[in-house]
Amino acid sequence: MVFANMSHYSQKHLLGIHSLSREDIDAIFQSAAFFSECGINSSQKFSYLHGKTVVLGFFESSTRTRCSFEVAAKRLGAEVLLFQPQGSSVEKGETLLDTLETIDAMGVDIWVIRHSINGSVELMSNHSNGIFINAGEGNKEHPTQALLDGFTLLEKFDSLEGKRICIVGDILHSRVARSDIYLFQKLGAEVAICGPDIFMPDLREFSNIHRLETIEDSVAWADAINMLRIQKERIVDKNIPTTEEYSQQFGLRMKHLVSKPDIIVMHPGPANYGVEIDHEVAHSPQSVIQRQVRNGVAVRMAVLTLLSNHNR
Ligand code: CP
Repeated sequence: MVFANMSHYSQKHLLGIHSLSREDIDAIFQSAAFFSECGINSSQKFSYLHGKTVVLGFFESSTRTRCSFEVAAKRLGAEVLLFQPQGSSVEKGETLLDTLETIDAMGVDIWVIRHSINGSVELMSNHSNGIFINAGEGNKEHPTQALLDGFTLLEKFDSLEGKRICIVGDILHSRVARSDIYLFQKLGAEVAICGPDIFMPDLREFSNIHRLETIEDSVAWADAINMLRIQKERIVDKNIPTTEEYSQQFGLRMKHLVSKPDIIVMHPGPANYGVEIDHEVAHSPQSVIQRQVRNGVAVRMAVLTLLSNHNR
């Protein structure tokens, strides 16, 4: 196993999947495979980020993304600074750009940002010399989630060319759905979405997307199914189905897997068991959810290393 040819990676920042070329994606996957094969554990330490400081700026809550970026950056030899608005001068009215300018003055190199407002990561990147990684922004993009989802699927399939992937749930408010759709289509997959009308975006937002009506249709159609939670924190229209209605119509249960035992089940987390997915399904042999979390570390180590090297 060799480390990716870093010259194939062309980006200064990682703001979204939209701007990545197929060569960029392949370079990330090749590097992630290197780190994955070395082993995702604390005895595997590297020095690719030695002398760098990575700021984890999480203006919204997170477990998987924040923790895996922290683990990834530390295993690469970086210093890590966690910034969260709670307990900071944001509570005294300090603006996003003032926060950026203040922490930049401390000599930091890479910013990993989660924020509820679309465009905030790009705005920050335009006011700093640092390297910026979008760690989940509004309902726009969550590129490292899509990359770890694609990487996980490629452990099961040799290629995504012609594979059918269905994303079920609250697509309208989901940054994961958008980044997944862009990534899976760039890798040659057919993509479908399924969910109640109120959670469907205007289909003209995407090209070549299928719309499926029921969970049964989705399971029958797909090689892999990605179950999303209802993004309550971003929903303004309160006229949404009750948990019971939603779960009955769109929840994935063991009975659905009986007719399609080789389907791959994904969920970006956090999962609401008994709503969009049953606990038994999430822990079934068809589920790759824990593998997604593990691969999140390898993919984020790859992204940090490639961006740091590109900007040397
Ligand atoms: N998938 C994901 O972004 O999870 P967290 O919100 O826990 O980071």
